Amino acid sequence: MSTNPTSPDTSWFRSLGLGLFLHWGHASTQGWELSWQMTGGVHLQPPALEPVPVRTYFDNAPSFRPERFDPAAWAESAWRAGARYVVFTAKHHDGFAMFDTGLSDYSIAKTWGRDVTGEVVEAFRARGFRIGLYFSIVDWHHEDYPRLTDDAIAKPYRVGVYRRGTEEQWAHYRRFMLGQLEELLTGYGPIDIVWLDGEFEHSEEEWDFAGIRDFIRTHQPDALVNDRCLGHGDFTTPEQQLPVMAPDRPWETCLTMSSTWGYVPSDDTWKSPRTLLHTLIEAASMGGNLLLNIGPTDDGTFPPKAVERLETLAGWMDRHAESVHGTQAGLDLWQFHGPSTRRQLADGGERLYLHLTMRPYERITVRGVPVNRVRAARLLGTGTPLDWSVQPNLKHVHAEAADPSGELYVSVPATELDELCTVVAVDLAVAPVRVDAPAGQAA
Ligand code: GLC
Repeated sequence: MSTNPTSPDTSWFRSLGLGLFLHWGHASTQGWELSWQMTGGVHLQPPALEPVPVRTYFDNAPSFRPERFDPAAWAESAWRAGARYVVFTAKHHDGFAMFDTGLSDYSIAKTWGRDVTGEVVEAFRARGFRIGLYFSIVDWHHEDYPRLTDDAIAKPYRVGVYRRGTEEQWAHYRRFMLGQLEELLTGYGPIDIVWLDGEFEHSEEEWDFAGIRDFIRTHQPDALVNDRCLGHGDFTTPEQQLPVMAPDRPWETCLTMSSTWGYVPSDDTWKSPRTLLHTLIEAASMGGNLLLNIGPTDDGTFPPKAVERLETLAGWMDRHAESVHGTQAGLDLWQFHGPSTRRQLADGGERLYLHLTMRPYERITVRGVPVNRVRAARLLGTGTPLDWSVQPNLKHVHAEAADPSGELYVSVPATELDELCTVVAVDLAVAPVRVDAPAGQAA
């Protein structure tokens, strides 16, 4: 049970760093975008998609038999890349349950005979991941939602244009939706994150988000719920971009590696591994997480380009993971012109991680540093000590301040730069600084 039933503990979520988002469904057999291929994408929102008739889309479900599905292998490669939580699409807007539901025949348990969500949860939990389930409150396949038809929506989709049923249908649908949610909340052990989506159809009153939040709390008191449970979320979910300013509560940015969420091989807009890494680092420097998406293929493997990106991240994580795992937001940008994170050291000191996402010229400068507390600067990846010096603020010097602040300069030789992102670790002592420490030198 949570200690405070109204607000679950979010501290574990704040410093996870990287999460793996998985968008998977039968659309992958055709290389269609998950759900949105039916609507031809969303008006004005890239990418544009060739619309598929809804009937054709829905009828595709039995073709999905991902024979090489191996969630333990997914978990292993994501873990090595630094991911510490997973969010899996138990059900997307297309209504196809990727779990064993007793409330509908439209599920992978019926078509393929396996509870894919259960297998994903088990494998990732065994590897040490926090577990998140994505669940679309919208269900374009359910008769009482009511089911999507080609003429009921704009193609491409326009937010606010959708078909409505009768009040009775809505009441029935809501019971069904909560029933499936209950199956997920009671059948898969402790769920850390309930990731709702689909708040863009129907009003807040119709959904009764307070009721949905209570319902989740009843079954999983410690689970966090995202902000798409409007007005009742525990964390914020900016999509496809970092927030301009760090939100004042826990947050994650969800991001696709290309432009689509599902497996769409015709989408060749892959972001480079370095760009993905830098986005993760920037998120961590602002105190948030990056929920990085992969759309597995129809045979159950990750697309080669996604594997390549995970492997590049893994190589960097081997040498630099401590700068993004379990850290807090770092310095203000006036102090250091780049992303940074920090952590408390066991002896009361503090370590700063300065991420060089751009190549430095000769040296880097950090401002507003307690100059007499600087102990060491080194390259995190190799442990190589770096030359550094400090200059206290002259006002502090003249005032004979015990703990003056000023500037720190660290030399970073061009030959030592990491191909993806160099990290400079600076250790600061917190122990009282000697009052007679000579100005400009470390105590
Ligand atoms: C958007 C997409 C949806 C995806 C979600 C993830 O809402 O429309 O397909 O699941 O983002 O954040």
